[in-house]
Amino acid sequence: MCGIVGYVGNRNATPIIIEGIKRLEYRGYDSAGIAIINKEHELKIFKEAGKIIDLERSLPAPNETSGNIGIAHTRWATHGEPTTTNAHPHTNCCNTIALIHNGIIENYKILRKKLEAEDHIFVSETDTEVLTHLIGHFYREENNLLLAVQEALKLVEGAYGIAIICSDFPDQIIAARKGSPLILGIGKNEFFVASDVSAIIIHTKRVIYLQDNEIVTVNKNNFEITTINNKIVTAKVSEIDWDVSSIEKGEYKHFMLKEIFEQPKSVGNAFRGRLIPELSTTRLGGLGLTEEELRQVERLHIIACGTSWHAALIGKNIIEGLARIPVEVEYASEYRYRNPIIPDNTVVFVISQSGETADTLAALREAKSKGARVFGITNVVGSTIARESDGGVYIHAGTEIGVASTKALTSQVTVLSLLAVLLGRMRNLSSTYGTTFIEELIKIPEKIQRILDNNEEIKKIAGTIKDSTNALYLGRGVNYPIALEGALKLKEISYIHAEGYPAAEMKHGPIALIDKNMPVIVIALKDVIYDKIVSNLEEVKARKGRIITIATEGDETIKDISENVIYIPQTINVLQPLLSVIPLQLLAYHVADLRNLDVDQPRNLAKSVTVE
Ligand code: M6R
Repeated sequence: MCGIVGYVGNRNATPIIIEGIKRLEYRGYDSAGIAIINKEHELKIFKEAGKIIDLERSLPAPNETSGNIGIAHTRWATHGEPTTTNAHPHTNCCNTIALIHNGIIENYKILRKKLEAEDHIFVSETDTEVLTHLIGHFYREENNLLLAVQEALKLVEGAYGIAIICSDFPDQIIAARKGSPLILGIGKNEFFVASDVSAIIIHTKRVIYLQDNEIVTVNKNNFEITTINNKIVTAKVSEIDWDVSSIEKGEYKHFMLKEIFEQPKSVGNAFRGRLIPELSTTRLGGLGLTEEELRQVERLHIIACGTSWHAALIGKNIIEGLARIPVEVEYASEYRYRNPIIPDNTVVFVISQSGETADTLAALREAKSKGARVFGITNVVGSTIARESDGGVYIHAGTEIGVASTKALTSQVTVLSLLAVLLGRMRNLSSTYGTTFIEELIKIPEKIQRILDNNEEIKKIAGTIKDSTNALYLGRGVNYPIALEGALKLKEISYIHAEGYPAAEMKHGPIALIDKNMPVIVIALKDVIYDKIVSNLEEVKARKGRIITIATEGDETIKDISENVIYIPQTINVLQPLLSVIPLQLLAYHVADLRNLDVDQPRNLAKSVTVE
């Protein structure tokens, strides 16, 4: 989604804000632009369709782009094609105000009509341009920019994170948010605004997370936060506890590969300090629930999107199995609009790596408005979902930059398995099982590493399917959501059509697709349904499908029916997804890389989907 960066201070703003938006490239975008106010107090706008490098190439000589204040934007098109005209910043009629925006102005058509009737001339097809003209309209009336911004935002329906500069106030940025993330970075005699910490972390680790309906007015020496109704806000300064190396690729070709290889560590971080071996159970202090309250839980709703939704499906399987508590899993985009029934003693969990996904946030709010207690399982500290939840669990996976989510899933599943044991041990789960679970979980990071050590072999197998046009992923039980996840990984970065199915469902339809050109990737691990899944494999083989099997180490017989086998270590059933997903992530990565595709920024996708 769109990225926002702003700078005001003593340094030249242009290289700082350009570097800032480069750090946001991972969010996905299709055009970029900057606005600066130069030494002569003139507002200058530069924008370009395409990549930031295209924008940089189009910039005039450095002396024409230098100034101590500027804003920069990467646009992910929603209203209007990704053209230079539609790129941000947008300006008012007299070109004194420049504005960048992340979000969607839902009532832009009505507002635009009214403004056009008052002689405002629009040049783009965007919803954003309406905001610029609306602020310009009130500024003309009030001659007070902050007041104009407040008045304009009162009329707006939808979501926004915005930053504004105005040539009449050549040392001031105004920024505001509702529904889209925005932070203020505090430096020495300089300030930053950004939609994401990674844009500014090389300059400062001291930040303020703006809340909805807050507006910050900032110059190089100080700042003031007010609400949309002009009440002064005292905000808390937070310290970012990670450093720039976590948002750099290091020795890896892509962020996705780096993040896949980080999983021994990230999974360990997800369970560290949360195991209580002496009681054969776990603790999740962030939930803030008493033992009594945890015992009263009768039902769970887990809501999420994309890969996080796959983690939720795995969580359902584990929680129902170990704690015997019914779990409903739903797409956030559906939950928010279907008037869900939330019986007493139901707790709602929302899962989101970014903590900013618009649908998940809306579902959280819907559940809260119905009186439910809502808990977040998020990665990004201070994210909107983390802040709006009644409590929650951070997965501590570290920054995930690759658009294709990898380490977030394994950390989410780890946390869900801890939750299952916590709830289970308060009910009927035996201490023997609790102990086995803890012993097995502790071994998972080393087992993930063993799979990663097989990377070159997996790359070779990827070479055998890289030219396919379709692929089928099959799994059962706790590995069925992993089949869905494997298919999602492949399609989103390699653009090969892929579908995931419960293996036994194949004969009810998808089997019609199988021929000698169809790769079928099957998770067939040694557990209670192993024999059943082998029968499903035979059905594929009989139709000449090309079988790649994810199998348990030591299973030699599976070779007879497979074109290729990728072995993973044995573990208990509930923890299998933490291992079975790894080869599928690597397989998708290598297929996309062998096809020379932009693995970290696949077409049309955004890392954090902050619009509906
Ligand atoms: O940040 P979230 O976990 O809320 O994001 C949810 C999905 O947008 C995300 O998982 C998406 O499906 C990824 N591209 C999957 O790789």
